[in-house]
Amino acid sequence: MKPDTTPKIAFVMVGLPARGKTFIARKMARYLAWLGHRTQVFNVGSYRRERIGSRQHHSFFDPRNDAGQAARLEVALAALDDMLAFLRGGGDVAIYDATNNTRERRAMVRARCEAEGLEVVFVESICHDPVLVEQNIRANKARSPDYEGVPEEEAVRDFRLRIAHYESAYEEVGEDEGHFIKTIDVGRTLVLHRVEGYLLARVVHYLLNLHIQPRSVRLTRHGESEFNVLGRIGGDAPLSDAGRGYARTLATIVRERVGTDVVVWTSTLRRTIETAEALGLPYRSWRALDEIDAGVCDGMTYDEIAEAMPAEYESRQADKFRYRYPRGESYQDVIQRLEPVIFELERERRPVLVIGHQAVLRALYAYMMDRPPNECPFVSIPLHTILELEPTAYGCDERRIELPPAPLDPEGFRQDT
Ligand code: SIN
Repeated sequence: MKPDTTPKIAFVMVGLPARGKTFIARKMARYLAWLGHRTQVFNVGSYRRERIGSRQHHSFFDPRNDAGQAARLEVALAALDDMLAFLRGGGDVAIYDATNNTRERRAMVRARCEAEGLEVVFVESICHDPVLVEQNIRANKARSPDYEGVPEEEAVRDFRLRIAHYESAYEEVGEDEGHFIKTIDVGRTLVLHRVEGYLLARVVHYLLNLHIQPRSVRLTRHGESEFNVLGRIGGDAPLSDAGRGYARTLATIVRERVGTDVVVWTSTLRRTIETAEALGLPYRSWRALDEIDAGVCDGMTYDEIAEAMPAEYESRQADKFRYRYPRGESYQDVIQRLEPVIFELERERRPVLVIGHQAVLRALYAYMMDRPPNECPFVSIPLHTILELEPTAYGCDERRIELPPAPLDPEGFRQDT
């Protein structure tokens, strides 16, 4: 059989400090890893901190400082070597997170990558909006390990001088430098050059939806359903009495903690819609949020599956992530169909409440918390619990709120899809 010759991709970040490069690099990595591509970010700043030390005076970054230049080149090359080794050793996509602010530096990086048959795409982050830059300096840079123990104003002053050094040598990516995506003011404007192919188109679509406005995402399963009580998977059963009780409690808590300006999404299945109805707020029902399709096992209990189809039961135990129910879906399939939900989740600036199902929420949770996708079948998403997720600059904080009434089988062990 002819080997797959799809080139591996090296995304090479470009931009002045405090332009959101690391934010974009990590988001891209999270998205690509969630889709199943082995992805890793190589951050030159971290290499510099580890090898040379975090406390560097701004003059270290002055392009006229020969010793500083040599030291910076050395750490940049170390990160590049590790990135190439990662891609040689089975990685699919790598993101080289550094300023790469001169043509000369980019030409060197590109030549090294292309010599290994990699496709290089520059991702340049430009900020015209001084408010965004100021926010980034104050929220992230002045509090970074580079300025540990340094009073904020002193850190901000030094960091501005560091930026000025980079600015003095900065050259924007030109059309003669190959493939590029320029994102201006974190996705407000995108400029594309020679961006071709399915994966790059998806990355572009993803970048279009990014923003840095803080907001929360809440995930909850529907209230307990009559199928939950019976231990049956799938189906389209209505809520049980306890499930209706949860819907009412949820409505009170949402109003208390979020108010009414909240985006509510459900699946197209009855149990999520009945839960949402209790809120008395508009909601949108997505087929993409429907529970994993259990195919021929829909409506059965796990004991029944184990008895009637022991081979299927065993296969699922052996590889829960890849296992596909006969004529149904696997977790991997669920992740693929959730992609439009992820784009909308990124785009939305208001708080979002997703009323969903166990398998689907596990997949969304893995994305939000940057967990390897193959771990998602094992995430605990109990019934009658709200997962409050607050995205931060480079991660996500989590809080779990258990609400009454207690369901019969909160962890859904008898129906663990
Ligand atoms: C750093 O050392 O913090 C960044 C190095 C660079 O990308 O220029």
